[in-house]
Amino acid sequence: MSTVLVPGPVASGVPDKPVGAEVVVIGLGPAGAQWLTPEARTELAAATDIVGYATYVNRVPVRPGQRRHATDNRVEAERAEFALDLARRGSRVAVVSSGDPGVFAMASAVLETRADRGYDDVPVRIIPGLTAAHAVASRVGAPLGHDFCMLSLSDQLKPWPVIAERLEAAAAADLVIALYNPASRSRRRQLEDAREILLRYRKPETPVVVGRAVGSDAESVRVVTLDELDTAEVDMRTLLIVGSSRTRAHGSTVFTPRSY
Ligand SMILES: C[S@@+](CC[C@H](N)C(=O)[O-])C[C@H]1O[C@@H](n2cnc3c(N)ncnc32)[C@H](O)[C@@H]1O
Repeated sequence: MSTVLVPGPVASGVPDKPVGAEVVVIGLGPAGAQWLTPEARTELAAATDIVGYATYVNRVPVRPGQRRHATDNRVEAERAEFALDLARRGSRVAVVSSGDPGVFAMASAVLETRADRGYDDVPVRIIPGLTAAHAVASRVGAPLGHDFCMLSLSDQLKPWPVIAERLEAAAAADLVIALYNPASRSRRRQLEDAREILLRYRKPETPVVVGRAVGSDAESVRVVTLDELDTAEVDMRTLLIVGSSRTRAHGSTVFTPRSY
């Protein structure tokens, strides 16, 4: 779903004097009301306008008078500029992201657009949210209990050789690796290649947590080994946590010890 991003008058019913015209980039958490922080809830309620990818805007409870601007997922810079423009005209704009807005999400897009397209006069604040890696980790125990990194496997915004190089470096450094954006309907090869790279450094029996749609009604979480990871089961709603050489699967839990 997409709408044409043209700022219009603020509908009646919103507070007539916004406390401050600004853009507030808000993390909604990975799914569900349980992971929406009280701070995020308060900021959402104070906004005159909600801007974001339609899936995320739909997660925000409807408030009378608040304007909603849902876009498709591929227009980050335009969405950011639209939000900054609205704020410059006096609106208090909430830009919504899933998880934490600073992790592979809208906070960077808003700040980059503000810096590069002449919006330094518009105040921007970032409201943190629970990121998907932490939510998935909590379902199985503590796989992120020691040094870890987060990588996105999406080559839409950076070339695959850069991703492969980072994956290799992270694997060689024996970091636990949280893989965001592991695959999509059209992007299937990257995870296959990633698995091959990881298997050069990690044992086949390395635990891999496969968390899908965590926190929603469609949640599923499985622990498999790197060797048996079925990449066909992985989609855009999935996050993978690949253990380090120290990560242990014990009964139904997975953890990485605090001491070496
Ligand atoms: C564009 S990134 C956004 C990440 C988000 N800003 C965060 O901090 O979680 C989208 C990726 O996050 C992961 N993700 C988001 N929500 C998830 C959930 N509820 N369960 C599992 N993975 C999730 C998936 O890997 C998905 O492809």
